[in-house]
Amino acid sequence: MAQRRKIIIDTDPGQDDAVAILLALASPELEILGIATVAGNVPLALTEKNARKICELAGRPDVPVYAGAVRPMVNDLVTAEHVHGKTGLDGPDLPDPRMPLQAKHAVDWIIETLMAHEAGEVTLCTLGPLTNIALALVREPAIASRVREIVMMGGGFFEGGNVTPAAEFNIYVDPHAADVVFRSGIPIVMMPLDVTHKALTTSARIAAFRNLGTHVGSATAEMLEFFERFDEEKYGSDGGPLHDPCVIAYLLQPELFSGRLCNVSIETASELTLGMTVIDWWRVTDRPANAHVMRDIDHEGFFRLLVERLGRL
Ligand code: BDR
Ligand code: CA
Repeated sequence: MAQRRKIIIDTDPGQDDAVAILLALASPELEILGIATVAGNVPLALTEKNARKICELAGRPDVPVYAGAVRPMVNDLVTAEHVHGKTGLDGPDLPDPRMPLQAKHAVDWIIETLMAHEAGEVTLCTLGPLTNIALALVREPAIASRVREIVMMGGGFFEGGNVTPAAEFNIYVDPHAADVVFRSGIPIVMMPLDVTHKALTTSARIAAFRNLGTHVGSATAEMLEFFERFDEEKYGSDGGPLHDPCVIAYLLQPELFSGRLCNVSIETASELTLGMTVIDWWRVTDRPANAHVMRDIDHEGFFRLLVERLGRL
C-alpha cells in the first residue's frame, strides 16, 4: 500500500464525530497520530471522555487522546445537548473508558507534532469549533507552513445556518478562531451544511449499520437513531445530516465530493449574522481564494463507504 496519510483529528464528540472517528480508525489508508478534543457539542470533560469511549469501542485504546480548549477564544461556550443528549453521545450504553487521557494539552501536542514532521506531511481534520487550531496558530505561527491541509466540517452558504439563520454550529461557537484559521494561509477543504444536508441517515441506512451484526454496527445504529430525531423534526426529513464523517470520507474518496475554490470570510462583528461563512461562490470580489468549498456529495457512495469500512471493526 502507498504511504499512509498522517492525520490529526480535532473533535467535540458528538455522535457524528464518533462515526467520523470510527471511519478513520477503520481505514488503513490513514495513520491517526492522535485525537485532540475541544469544547463544543458538550463541555470538554465530556468530549475528551467520549473520544476515548469511541477508541475503545473500535478496539483502539492505543490512539492518544488529548484535551484542549475548555472554551472559545472570546465568547462564552455554547453547547448542543438538545441535539446530542446530556452526555454528547446519547444512544448506546458505552462503558466509561479505561484508557488514560494524555497529560499534555492538545494545543501543545498539535504544535509539537506539526513541528516534528516535514512540511506537508500532516493533515488536520477538524470536526468541531476551531479553537485548538487557532490557539496553536497564535502560539506558534510556524505551524501554518507545516500543515498539508485542513479538511473541516463547518459553515454553510446556500443552506444558511443551523444554529442561527446565518451560522453553522462549529463556526458560530468560535467565530474568532475560525477567522484566525481562514486567514492563516493553510489550504482548507470545507464541508459545509450545503454538503452535509445531502448525507441523510435514512432508516434504510441505519438498518445497514445494524445489519453488520457487530458491536460497532449496533452502537452506530443506536447513536444515529438518537442523533437524527432532532433534525428529523426540524427539517421534516427521513434521517438527519451526517456531518462530520464527510471530512474523513473526503480523505479516502475525494471524488465523492465536488465544489470550487473561493474566498471564505468569517463574520465576527454583527450580532445578527455572527459566525456566518461569507462564501464568494460567484467570485464577485477580488478577495483571494482561501478554501476549496464543497457543495455536492455522492451520498449513495458515501454511505456505501461508511458501511463497508465500519464493517471492518
Ligand atoms: C456540526 O455541529 C455539531 O453539532 C456536529 O458534530 C457537527 O460537527 C454541525 O453543525
Ligand atoms: Ca462535531
